[in-house]
Amino acid sequence: MILRILSSYATTRGWPYVLAWCHRIAGLLLIGYVWFHIYTLLSLSSPPRYDATMKFYGFFLFRILEWALAIPVIFHALNGGRLILYESFETRDDESMIRWLLWLSALYVALLGALMLIGNQSVSAVFFWLTMIIAGLTLAYGVASKVWAIQHSLLWKLQRITGAYLLILIPAHMLFMHLNYAMAHEANTVAMRMQNYFIKAVDISLAVVVLYHAGYGLVSFIGDYLESRTLRIGLAGLVILVMLLFAAVGIRLTLVI
Ligand code: HEM
Repeated sequence: MILRILSSYATTRGWPYVLAWCHRIAGLLLIGYVWFHIYTLLSLSSPPRYDATMKFYGFFLFRILEWALAIPVIFHALNGGRLILYESFETRDDESMIRWLLWLSALYVALLGALMLIGNQSVSAVFFWLTMIIAGLTLAYGVASKVWAIQHSLLWKLQRITGAYLLILIPAHMLFMHLNYAMAHEANTVAMRMQNYFIKAVDISLAVVVLYHAGYGLVSFIGDYLESRTLRIGLAGLVILVMLLFAAVGIRLTLVI
C-alpha cells in the first residue's frame, strides 16, 4: 500500500520529491523518538524502575518497533548525507545516489536485525566510541570546510555540519545498543558505561548536536507552512525552549549518573 502510493508520486512528481517528503517525515518521527528516549533514560536514577520499564519494552511488539526505528534513522541519515554531498560538492547523479541510498539502508536494517537476533556480541565502549568520534569529527570537518564557502546563514551551515557528525554517530549508537541485550536494557550495565568520563563527553555531544540539528529542522519546517511572521517567531521560540529543556535534562542526567 505505502509502496504503491510512493511509486505513484514518484511517477508524477519524481523520486527527489518523494524522498524530500520521506526525509521530512522521518525527521519529525526522530524528534518524537529522541524526546521519548531522553524521558525513558530519566528512570536510570532508579535502577529497578529502569529495568521494569525495559522489561515492558522487551515484549515482542516493542522489539519489532525498536528494530523498525532503524528504517527512518538510516533513511534520514543517508538521504541527509546525499543532500549534504550535493550542497557541498555541487555534483548530482540522482539515479545512482538514490539506488545507493536504498540498498545501504536495507543493508543497515538487516544488519541491525541480525545483531538483535544474535544478541551476544560485545566490544570495548571506549574503543568503539573513540573510533566513531574520530570518524564523525573528520566528516564534520570535511563538510564544514566545504559549506563554509556557501552563501547561507551560520545556523544553516551548522545544521549541515551537525548532520555530517550525526551521519556517523547515530547509526553507530543504534548498532552499539543492540550488540547485546544488556548493553541498553539493564540499568547497571548502562550506568557503569555512562560513568566513564569519555562516554559522558560523547553522550553530551550527541544530545547537544541532535537537539540543535532537530530544532533547526523543526523551525525551518514550520517556517515553510506559516504565513504569519508573529506566529513563526512565537513557534520558533517555543521549539528553542523545548529543545533547551531536553538538552538540559539530558546533560544533567549524564553528569549525575
Ligand atoms: C543521522 C544523521 C542525520 C543527517 C545526515 C541529517 C541530515 C539532514 C539534512 C541535510 C537536512 C536538511 C534537509 C533539507 O533542508 O532539505 C535535515 C533536516 C532535518 N533533520 Fe536531519 N539529519 C540527521 C539526523 C537527524 C535526527 C537524529 C533528527 C531528529 C532527532 C533530525 C531531524 C531533522 C529535521 C526535523 C529536519 C527538517 C526536515 C525538513 O524540513 O525537510 N535529523 N537533516
